[in-house]
Amino acid sequence: MRKPIIAGNWKMYKTAAEAKAFAEEVKTAVPSADKVDAVICAPALFLQGLVEAAENTHLKIGAQTMHEEKEGAFTGEISPVQLKDLGVEYVIIGHSERRQYFNETDETANNKVVSAFEHGLKPILCVGESLEQRDSGDTGNVVEAQVEKGVAQLSAEQVAELVIAYEPIWAIGTGKTATSEDANDVCGVIRNKIESLYDEETAGAIRIQYGGSVKPANIEELLNMEHIDGALVGGASLETESFLKLLEAGA
Ligand code: G3H
Repeated sequence: MRKPIIAGNWKMYKTAAEAKAFAEEVKTAVPSADKVDAVICAPALFLQGLVEAAENTHLKIGAQTMHEEKEGAFTGEISPVQLKDLGVEYVIIGHSERRQYFNETDETANNKVVSAFEHGLKPILCVGESLEQRDSGDTGNVVEAQVEKGVAQLSAEQVAELVIAYEPIWAIGTGKTATSEDANDVCGVIRNKIESLYDEETAGAIRIQYGGSVKPANIEELLNMEHIDGALVGGASLETESFLKLLEAGA
């Protein structure tokens, strides 16, 4: 049985005071980590405060991106060593917004995933097709290629610990969710790809999230699907009430 993982991606939202208030409100209400992994991926500025607030609770903290190098002259960047040092546990890699606005590619995502593992962070690798790719029937090929390139150089043990977030770009922040059947089909394609690259055991262990307009009203149906092991949630993770409802659905 794969443990569900529900991760909130706050993107570039909230002030420091709002982030602190959120953590104080949810931290004792988060379901047991035996049942669900509950993660908040926050702007880098808030990570230290959130790690401190979440200490000795079931809430886990993640970053939204990182640089692949452990240190260096990379103005404005944050390294895996710095994240680990703060007590950050997860890191989102290759989100479609990073690919679209910050020139990230499958290759940079792969370098970052490798580096995250090297430095003891748990990567959440994002993949997903554009509307144009979906309309031309290319979803499977696009996602398979992203997965294959994204996991290059990883061992089976690392892939078993990896989280892949399938996020169709057209469903992000649009209110349009893929049907749970469609989302499950693509998550199944991802699992099969992992099996063909590694083995059945690794494919059975890797956790695959769906992301794209997930909310309390649709999460249960998504989580009931065979290949969907959790959700990567933007908008609906910003309010404490809806975030807690999402976690309860996963627990
Ligand atoms: O990382 C989260 C996704 O981009 C989904 O965002 O839930 O606001 O559609 P959304």
